[in-house]
Amino acid sequence: TWSAVPAGPPDPILGVTEAFKADKDPRKINLGVGAYRDDNGKPYVLGSVKKAEAFLESTNPDKEYLPITGLPEFTKAAAKLAYGADSTPLTTNSVAVTQSISGTGALRIGGAFLSRFYPHSKTIYLPNPSWGNHTPIFRDSGLEVKTYRYFDKKTVGLDFAGLKEDLKSMPVGSIVLLHACAHNPTGVDPTPEQWTEISDLIQEKQLFPFFDMAYQGFASGNTTRDAFAVRHFVSSGQQIALSQSFAKNMGLYGERVGAFSLVTADPEEKARVESQLKIVVRPMYSNPPLHGARIASTILTKEELYKEWEGEVKLMADRIISMRDRLYDNLVSLSTPGEWGHIKSQIGMFSFTGLTQPQTKALAEKAHIYLTADGRISMAGLNGNNIDYFSESVSKVVKG
Ligand code: LMR
Repeated sequence: TWSAVPAGPPDPILGVTEAFKADKDPRKINLGVGAYRDDNGKPYVLGSVKKAEAFLESTNPDKEYLPITGLPEFTKAAAKLAYGADSTPLTTNSVAVTQSISGTGALRIGGAFLSRFYPHSKTIYLPNPSWGNHTPIFRDSGLEVKTYRYFDKKTVGLDFAGLKEDLKSMPVGSIVLLHACAHNPTGVDPTPEQWTEISDLIQEKQLFPFFDMAYQGFASGNTTRDAFAVRHFVSSGQQIALSQSFAKNMGLYGERVGAFSLVTADPEEKARVESQLKIVVRPMYSNPPLHGARIASTILTKEELYKEWEGEVKLMADRIISMRDRLYDNLVSLSTPGEWGHIKSQIGMFSFTGLTQPQTKALAEKAHIYLTADGRISMAGLNGNNIDYFSESVSKVVKG
């Protein structure tokens, strides 16, 4: 029956973890997937998460089904975290929101909803490059995927002129995917001034902004600062779509906690949109998982836990920044050919190193160091024990 099914390629990101696991060398390092590690290279369960779990346990929770759109306390708190408690869409009760299977699920619900109901276009433009899963998610949702200029290889920074030109030449009504902060894979974000220009352009051209916010808190260590772009667009009167993930900022990777929301005109429109979100979700997975949403909503609604969590987000962001500094210093002191300033200036969990495909291949084969083929490294995989070995290996490979 399945003789005509061709073997598919490994996933460009999760496939790296498979290769890493198969390597038995003790020096091996996985810098592929964006998952935070502590300074001993171990997965990190946040203290605020453990406390939330202990609290939940004490309430003897049931295991009933959640509503189709998820845990109401959670979706409310997630929207507040993104938009801000005083934002007009929240004070006027006009945000339609559903819990999702983390960021991927949120994007997929959003893609499916737009594909079914967005009246002006079936085309979504992604930054070039973008997270590897964006294209298949939106394609499988029934949208046509195109790209706009984003990264400038020459400056290893934002191609702001190219980005603006491309926004200007998009057909009116097109959907534009924007990384809210900590752009994946490049680590290059627009400045607040650039965001303001982007927002004006998108409004002028009547494009539809769809934000992917998978790293709120990871860019600057501060969740409010990282929500700048989202809040700016909303305060300028734009009706955005927003995908949120709590995988990274709460370390809830496998719990799959996220949210998808749409800013609507008023409570009546919100109710209609939410009724259709339910109809999108129900045949996909019926209703979302319970435990992670309970953890996230406990942290977001209990003041003491919220404070502790904010401190932990900052701690994770700061450890990554300290690794950027050390990697830069090491590469320079090893006289590694090239300019490495971008390692320090890039933001969030990743660094887009500029290492070529043959170099990343050589790192895996010769040094047991695994990264994605585009030269992206997850900075969180570096720590005090492996950073010198990593720097020396990179230096060797670059020198050839
Ligand atoms: C990544 O880019 O490494 C993460 O978003 C994890 C994933 O699912 O790809």
